[in-house]
Amino acid sequence: MMADVLERPDRSTAAALFTPATVAPPPRRLSSLRMLVAMHRNPLEAIDAELFHLPFRRSRSLGKDHLAVCDPELIQAVLLDHADAFGRSELQQRAFRPTVGDGLLVVEGEEWRRQRRAAAPAFRHEALRRMTAAFAGAAEASAARLCAASGVVDVEPEMRRATLQVVMDTLLASYDGAAPEVLAHTLFGDVVVRPTALDLMGAPPWIPAPGRSLYRSRVRALREQAREAVERRRRSDLETGDLLGTLLAARDPENARGLSDQELVDNILTFIGAGHETTAVTLTWTLYLVANAPEVQARLLAEARQVLGDGPVTADGLDRLTFHEQVVNESLRLFTPGPLILRTARRDVDLGPVQVKAGTNVFCNLYVLHRSPRLWDHPSAFDPDRFSPERSAGRRRFAFIPFGGGPRVCIGARFAMMEAKTFLATYVRAFAVEPASGAQPLPRFRLTTSPDGGMPLRIRPRAG
Ligand code: HEM
Repeated sequence: MMADVLERPDRSTAAALFTPATVAPPPRRLSSLRMLVAMHRNPLEAIDAELFHLPFRRSRSLGKDHLAVCDPELIQAVLLDHADAFGRSELQQRAFRPTVGDGLLVVEGEEWRRQRRAAAPAFRHEALRRMTAAFAGAAEASAARLCAASGVVDVEPEMRRATLQVVMDTLLASYDGAAPEVLAHTLFGDVVVRPTALDLMGAPPWIPAPGRSLYRSRVRALREQAREAVERRRRSDLETGDLLGTLLAARDPENARGLSDQELVDNILTFIGAGHETTAVTLTWTLYLVANAPEVQARLLAEARQVLGDGPVTADGLDRLTFHEQVVNESLRLFTPGPLILRTARRDVDLGPVQVKAGTNVFCNLYVLHRSPRLWDHPSAFDPDRFSPERSAGRRRFAFIPFGGGPRVCIGARFAMMEAKTFLATYVRAFAVEPASGAQPLPRFRLTTSPDGGMPLRIRPRAG
């Protein structure tokens, strides 16, 4: 019986597949004014239908050259082959620097290499396997909260809460007392730290606007809490092997210099920020997709029971949850949490079909890449089997890159995949999930791709 459920259905047509609604693209490129309005409301609305058929497109606005890149080889050229010709973009620096300072996400050159080396041991295979118990504990607590709520629940806030707990437990285990709670509240309670449009445009700080001074005071409070956590940890003799411990122990091989307190604060905030919201939105969309594809949900349940029985998720079990990985990948393709990777050309560079002038803003558009009819069959349909080994064979290397690529590839990619699989295998065994009638969430891109207006879903706890 179980083997039956695990069997893959014949997919000769897309008719049987669930196709989630998404933002309807305007038929052709928007005028500058409409583009600005769309960018402010939801940048996904500024992506026109023509772009899905193009490898790249140039534009010019506000005195700057822009290049949208949507083709695997060209994106590979920007992120990997000519990575040294492209730096972090100004917009990205403005979005992130006030909160995460000069942490790993933002720094460049030798400073970046030093910080990446310092953080790397916390993300090695063995270190990640040791974190599985913490992933499983947080997933079980989250499943219990959802079952207790049952009925129609907006799952998005729960996903944020649960993934934040994971980051705190695994990367910053050394936090003690009330600190995680306070930090958590500051980040995701009623006080989410997000830059205002004026901050993103680089407007001078004295220009007043709604939300601007609040944003600044929240950033100050957040940084102060992180600084206290570093000081407390320096005074303690705790050895937990968590990320903060790894960063504190790191020494530059050339001069034995460690990271400064400022760098530690910047990186604590980098990892909290980069490490929880992306995974939270991935889980939110995954639950939505699975709710609308009962046959996929049945296959997930069968795989989870076959591999794990009724027990907690283990590191060995995770390796065997291969259909779970396909489902998470398909969710990352359709609702890529970070759909734009931004760079600025530092010098003139020849990418073959396109010459890029120094100063050009380059947008690697993963939303288009992952939904392009040039690269995918039935690109809007939810079809986890497209990530089966057979159907993945021969896929171009940069056709699917939710975690980026090249030297700046996401350091937390494996962490995120292990975490997402743990949650999914825990959820499907704890409850069935169904769509809430009338709800049709659309993606909106702000710092990540989240559902506009939340994600109401019906949770039905499983008996026993
Ligand atoms: C589904 C979850 C995630 C997605 C989709 C994602 C996506 C990305 C992408 C696309 C980049 C590259 C950005 C660029 O090249 O400009 C990136 C970088 C980064 N990510 Fe993630 N990420 C995820 C989870 C995580 C987690 C769990 C952590 C940490 C625990 C993390 C930490 C970072 C850091 C520190 C960087 C900067 C790396 C560097 O520049 O050296 N991410 N992420």
